[in-house]
Amino acid sequence: MQDRLIDAARVRDRRGTVRATRISPGTDEDAGTGALDRPLDLASNDYLGLSTDSRLKAAAITATERYGTGARASRVVTGTLPIHNHLEQSLAELTGQPAALAFSSGYAANLGILTALGGPDTLILIDAHIHASLVDAARLSRSPVTTIPHSNFAALNDLLANRTQTRAIVVIESIYSVLGDAPNLLDAAMLCATHDALLVVDEAHGVGVLGAGRGGVYAAGLAGADHVVVTATLSKALGAQGGAVLGSEMLRDHLVNTARSFIFDTGLAPAPAAAAAAACRIILAEPARVDALHRVASLIASSCGVDRAAGPVQSIRVGSPDIAVKVTERLRDEGILVGCFRPPSVPDGISRLRLTAHADTDPARLVWATALMTSMLLDGN
Ligand SMILES: Cc1ncc(COP(=O)(O)O)c(C=O)c1O
Repeated sequence: MQDRLIDAARVRDRRGTVRATRISPGTDEDAGTGALDRPLDLASNDYLGLSTDSRLKAAAITATERYGTGARASRVVTGTLPIHNHLEQSLAELTGQPAALAFSSGYAANLGILTALGGPDTLILIDAHIHASLVDAARLSRSPVTTIPHSNFAALNDLLANRTQTRAIVVIESIYSVLGDAPNLLDAAMLCATHDALLVVDEAHGVGVLGAGRGGVYAAGLAGADHVVVTATLSKALGAQGGAVLGSEMLRDHLVNTARSFIFDTGLAPAPAAAAAAACRIILAEPARVDALHRVASLIASSCGVDRAAGPVQSIRVGSPDIAVKVTERLRDEGILVGCFRPPSVPDGISRLRLTAHADTDPARLVWATALMTSMLLDGN
């Protein structure tokens, strides 16, 4: 086994694909507290800046004092707490869905829906850009799985029309994290209705962002449609932790009885459940926060000279993986945190810097950071 670990580490070194769990700058005890001492965060998924909102913190503390630090058991044993019901109602209200079921993560929610609905008689069609959790979920579902070229609805139509399986599930995202693009959900839903297929839309990057924060499915008028199911994470715009599946009451019951990542998993802890419920209320009450996020996203795109992507993440193409890594490190040294995407984790093999908008980003600091990044990219390091 030791040999195997050593070989794998050498391969990572050679390919320059080493990953690490470094403490995020600005989060240790010694970090400065002034706004300018804090790093400029253009990398995290806390799109609306809610993870540090005092109302979310207060909700988490109250829930911890009332229910304890953990749910203590699976939701189907003794782990369902009143805060879970409150969270599920809040999520359903935010997204306009009849019902919600909370999971311990977005990853677990995606595993839950596809393993509970898939099987040998169900073709699963996944978009080439979907998140790894959905790829894993499709694999675990025991369904035949086919990958559709990214957002290619003509190819999707052919595959649905010519399938041999009785059932089909199409899996897409409302905003893809690789390019930040948004597919036409209405077209996807119509195609699925025509071919009697279920559409699963992962709204990890859509809830809190699209449709005044209520999600892309809501914005497309598809919330509550029988053949459209939404999955979401509570760890991005909602500033907490956990995941959810949103759809009909009957679907919720089915998942409670069959989704292994729900049944054989400890319930979501009270603190993030309460924080996420508070986030749902804030998003509904304060649409200006979502508007601010979109203004910052537009500013990133214009100051980097790229087309505005639909979501918070704006991607900047970079000539080589080495340059992407070097520029990311140099920006980090300047207190600017950006994402770095390079092969093998990019489906199209193109290296990119990813700048993520947050509702509370200071525009002046942002313009300074993008100018610095542009000059580093022109230098080629
Ligand atoms: C599209 C998408 N789906 C699912 C997930 C998983 O969510 P979680 O982090 O809550 O497990 C992510 C997280 O990165 C994501 O981007």
